[in-house]
Amino acid sequence: MLKTDSLASKNNSETIRIAVLVSGGGTNLQALIDKEKDGKLSPCSIELVISNNSRAFALKRASDVGIESFVTSDEEELLRILDEHKIDFLVLAGYLKILSKDFIAKFAKPIINIHPSLIPSFCGKGCYGIHVHEKALEYGVKVSGATVHYVNKIPDGGEIILQKAVDVMDDDTPEKLQKRIMEEAEWVLLPKACVKVGESILLQKSKRI
Ligand code: GRF
Repeated sequence: MLKTDSLASKNNSETIRIAVLVSGGGTNLQALIDKEKDGKLSPCSIELVISNNSRAFALKRASDVGIESFVTSDEEELLRILDEHKIDFLVLAGYLKILSKDFIAKFAKPIINIHPSLIPSFCGKGCYGIHVHEKALEYGVKVSGATVHYVNKIPDGGEIILQKAVDVMDDDTPEKLQKRIMEEAEWVLLPKACVKVGESILLQKSKRI
């Protein structure tokens, strides 16, 4: 069943509508899609996937399950799309563009990001993708992992939501460590963090009624 077929029944005040921003392969997006399919992303529902890269494989993952997607790098257009789709919070899942302070202020709803290290280690400007794992191995840490955090105007500087540690092995390469952190930490953590944030938004909404 396509995503759109199931929307009518799900589209109610108990649903927290999320948009996922991606730039590349989208394995974290896939983890969210799989959890939603298993009924384990509630109260969240993936309404939109947006990419700044028209060639991102993540877009195919979205279209395969009938999730609406857009390609744009323009923040005003992004704001308009999020507003039109009544998005409750934004999930950055391998989004390689840094959102401006202006965008963060105007969106005025939670934005969360997944980072492949234990923040505050190996994070901040220039620390993305395979570089994170190269730096961790260069330093010689014995444990790394992943962090989901709120996004504020400081890159990787917002409040931490969840973290998971992963052991570093003696024979690790950056690629091996990256793969293990994805499998053991990122794909587990991001859906859990979405549920946590979704539940807290739902609670705030219920207090306002
Ligand atoms: C992940 O390692 C994530 O932590 C980082 O970018 C990578 C994206 O991978 N922010 P994918 O596109 O989800 O496969």
